[in-house]
Amino acid sequence: MKTVSTILAAALVAGTALAAPSVMAQDYPTQPITIVVPFSAGGPTDTVTRLVAAAMSEDLGQQVVVQNVGGAGGTLGAGQVAAATNDGYTLLLHHIGMSTAPALYASLPYDPITDFEPIGLVTEVPMTIVARKDFEPETLEDLIAHVKENGENVTYANAGIGAASQLCGLLFMDALDTRMTEVPYQGTGPAMTDLLGGQIDMMCDQTTNTTSQIQAGEIKAYAVTTPERIDVLPDVPTMAEGGIEDFELAIWHGLYAPAGTDPAIVERLTQSLQVALANETVATSFADLGTAPVTAEEATPDALAQRLEEQIALWGEVIAAAGVAAQ
Ligand code: MLT
Repeated sequence: MKTVSTILAAALVAGTALAAPSVMAQDYPTQPITIVVPFSAGGPTDTVTRLVAAAMSEDLGQQVVVQNVGGAGGTLGAGQVAAATNDGYTLLLHHIGMSTAPALYASLPYDPITDFEPIGLVTEVPMTIVARKDFEPETLEDLIAHVKENGENVTYANAGIGAASQLCGLLFMDALDTRMTEVPYQGTGPAMTDLLGGQIDMMCDQTTNTTSQIQAGEIKAYAVTTPERIDVLPDVPTMAEGGIEDFELAIWHGLYAPAGTDPAIVERLTQSLQVALANETVATSFADLGTAPVTAEEATPDALAQRLEEQIALWGEVIAAAGVAAQ
């Protein structure tokens, strides 16, 4: 016969066992956190992540380290986080590629919706059409004529199938109805090195990677993919000014944890992301790079989940219409 003390003891154990996740969450974080960037160091995604990681580290009182896992247009790194332990110590900072990969890969090692817990949106970054500084075309109109005339003799760098740089290039070639020769890298950090060295003709990349090089005159800029010109690059026309209508592209970024991460830990990470995005250094650095933190309302799980779902549907249609078969 169970005595009262036995029943109470059982309830206590059960209670403690039930409470264990919240006890873990209450003390979270008790060790360094890793944010995986699914591209090489030195590129736009890496730049955004390191700024956010430093500010989150300050808020959380724990080291937040960035691990670069490049390859397969960001899907290798995303797959690694999908399979990681869901203890809140391995996160993913990825961009629009989370929504294009399902249409570009016949078999992904993860489901962008069911294998992740969204933490929040981070920023939306404009793109720029850029080239090596001695490339002959001077204006976007000249570039369009040059690409149409030279086609596959023009080389353009991207960060692999599923990367923002590859998506932008795809849309650009679709607009010109002309194929160029794609040269894939593990990130547009290393691609920029070859562009600066003149080994590559052109690239479509985010302002977080191109702004300082354009301002320094080290690469040529033909257009930005925003509706209006941007403050940090006042002399760079929009795509519409250059003759390509309806070519607007902003690369949204989100922070994710593996599916099944304790909701209290997700909540703490969302709160820390919002603190980081309100950090003056982050806001100033983002502004200098042609972008801005999202609002606190957008730095939430629901906002990221909604964006991801909408964008998977949108890019699925656009990519199919462009006649791009999944790999
Ligand atoms: C891309 O999608 O092109 C990536 O942003 C490149 C990078 O971050 O290195």
